[in-house]
Amino acid sequence: METWILGGTGRSGRAIAAELVARGVTPVLAGRDAAGLARVAEAVGGGARTVLAGTVEAMAGEIRRQRPAVVINTVGPFGATAVPIARACLSAGAHYADLANDVASLSAVLALDDAATAAGRTVVTGAGFGVTATESVVVALCAGRPAPAEVRVHMIPSLAMEAGTVGEALAATMLDGLPGVEGGRRFQGRRFRGGRLAPARLGGDATRLTLPDGTGVRTVGVPLGELVAAQRASGAPDVTASSSELAPLRHVLPAASALLEVAALRRFAVRRLARVRFAARPRPRAHSWGYARVRWADGTVRDGWLRVGEAQGYTGAVPAEVARRLLAGEGRPGAYTPAALFGPSLAESCGGEYLLPAGAGR
Ligand SMILES: NC(=O)c1ccc[n+]([C@@H]2O[C@H](COP(=O)([O-])OP(=O)(O)OC[C@H]3O[C@@H](n4cnc5c(N)ncnc54)[C@H](OP(=O)(O)O)[C@@H]3O)[C@@H](O)[C@H]2O)c1
Repeated sequence: METWILGGTGRSGRAIAAELVARGVTPVLAGRDAAGLARVAEAVGGGARTVLAGTVEAMAGEIRRQRPAVVINTVGPFGATAVPIARACLSAGAHYADLANDVASLSAVLALDDAATAAGRTVVTGAGFGVTATESVVVALCAGRPAPAEVRVHMIPSLAMEAGTVGEALAATMLDGLPGVEGGRRFQGRRFRGGRLAPARLGGDATRLTLPDGTGVRTVGVPLGELVAAQRASGAPDVTASSSELAPLRHVLPAASALLEVAALRRFAVRRLARVRFAARPRPRAHSWGYARVRWADGTVRDGWLRVGEAQGYTGAVPAEVARRLLAGEGRPGAYTPAALFGPSLAESCGGEYLLPAGAGR
């Protein structure tokens, strides 16, 4: 009954390992850096073992050979890793979870629903802060009610940063755009309109929110996995997703996205971004927030918040809690986003607190 973390040396991998240990599960750390894995295994304690696998193919091969019970994939870009690893899990009889947060990867993993159902295993995508924090509020607000007409979700992460470089994998993920995603160009925003993905202005929909703690924050439209999760969780035909992370760049985003359409400029930008060094930074505000505003056709509007701590810590807790529940046999066969599978209680098990109107479901 082993739980593997692919990318066990990374920021997320280490946070997930600590959260698994806190739940009584000793993880197996898999990746390409033997010495780094050994250091993390020692820090994790409890005799954590490591699996050396330097490529996606090697990881898929080890999963098929060693047949773990649950695999948590933290190796981006998920457009390259999620489907091959999830398929290897299904053929090995393992449950699968990942941290994907882009529209293309989330959609591709959710399309494995029939394969997961046939294998009798559970596939969970989007098990990080953004998708879980926003989708959980949508699920709570919509529980027991007909599908709404419109949903707007906003994610407001508060992230502490370790000193380091952005790195090639994260840079490629950040500048990958939406390759092959219907409803618009690769470096364009998206929203749901009439139940279908449609173009939106990247960095548009600028909104000034007052957080429940009284402070203000600005968000802008960003087509991340939250968009897909909120649409599926609500069934609403019109959905937008926004984030506070890119709000400071809102004036340059349209021009930058036009430049990224040029492949040579994009490769240059990925190389430059990968080398960018950032200093250690404490988290900018006490809490991270997920917010959703839901409007029904009869004019009823409800909104709600989920308050969590530091966003990276929360991204460690969600996959660990998903794995714990899967190990306990609480999953169902198929492919899901986290709150669609486990309901709003998942976010609370990870330390989140809801601020919801009276009568909203849990
Ligand atoms: N959904 C969310 O809310 C959320 C939140 C946080 C992060 N993420 C995503 O999760 C991913 C990981 O984030 P992170 O902050 O943990 O990144 P990170 O610190 O750079 O860690 C990445 C891990 O993946 C490994 N890796 C990278 N490329 C690999 C390859 N080609 N083959 C084998 N291993 C490889 C790295 O190994 P080495 O140590 O050997 O380099 C490292 O263990 C990113 O794509 C990020 O966008 C999502």
